[in-house]
Amino acid sequence: MPSVYLSRPIPDTVVHELDCLFDLSVFAEPRPAARAELLAGVAGMDGVCSMLSDRIDDELIDAAGPQLRVVANYAVGYDNVDVEACTRRGVLVSNTPGVLTEATAELTLTLMLDLVRRVTEGDRMLRRGKGWTWSPTFMLGTGLRGKLLGIVGLGRIGAEVARLGEAFGMRVAYAGRGGPKAGTPYEHLPLGELIRAADVVSLHCPLTPETRHLIGPAELQAMRPDAFLLNTTRGPVVDEAALVEALRAGEIAGAGLDVFEREPEVHPGLLGLENVVLAPHLGSATRETREAMGMLCVQALRAVLVEDRCPENALNPEVWR
Ligand code: DGY
Repeated sequence: MPSVYLSRPIPDTVVHELDCLFDLSVFAEPRPAARAELLAGVAGMDGVCSMLSDRIDDELIDAAGPQLRVVANYAVGYDNVDVEACTRRGVLVSNTPGVLTEATAELTLTLMLDLVRRVTEGDRMLRRGKGWTWSPTFMLGTGLRGKLLGIVGLGRIGAEVARLGEAFGMRVAYAGRGGPKAGTPYEHLPLGELIRAADVVSLHCPLTPETRHLIGPAELQAMRPDAFLLNTTRGPVVDEAALVEALRAGEIAGAGLDVFEREPEVHPGLLGLENVVLAPHLGSATRETREAMGMLCVQALRAVLVEDRCPENALNPEVWR
């Protein structure tokens, strides 16, 4: 049986599948493996099922050994994987596209609704036991109908957020690499224009060297003072220190964040701000989605190690050719 290393426990149904197909080793601690543990764990393995917190690079490939053939990354984002190094070393890499689109879009809408209607802020107030009464001007929020939702990165998740935003009567425009996309009903704007015009800016671009700190001091200053920023992609797309400053200075109205620049750390400046809603990277965190992500990993590992073929969700199919 080919050997596979799984770097975190994932849903039982998926672990069972992996266990039937492979000689499986699981890092079973309720925390990410430390680097040394990860490098020791992959030694001698034919396949690895990695998490977004595992760095997959030349060092890891060396630690695994020349028999390593496939890394199935349990995430759609793969900024943790040096795909170029894997390709150079003949290691196939896969990710989990498609199956987390709805879950991540729903979480994005959750943050947006919570933020504009001040739900978590009100919850915090009630829990503090602060006296309150209903009043016509008490804790007023912002409605969504007619507001402009600015999507940065109209991929699968961005497009689903746009669709859900429309269901709330929002207008949608988008910015993205590669200019206007054929077949979308939404207006394409250059990023600077989108940021200046949008009532809600929602980030859905992958983290790459080009998108690191895509939203920094200048972009935050350019946003409307009554606008909101949502980030459910990767933390480093936003300069978090600049965001704290912008929120404190009232340059923007609020932020909804599911991801952080130095995860799992959260910038301490964010924790004291009322106009911020924070979630601990829950975008894909539904039972159905996490199981579906696992099954995509199983499929990729099985394709390479059992069926000797290139999986559909390969990121570097050229390795196969
Ligand atoms: C992904 O798959 O990239 C997500 O961030 C995991 O929730």
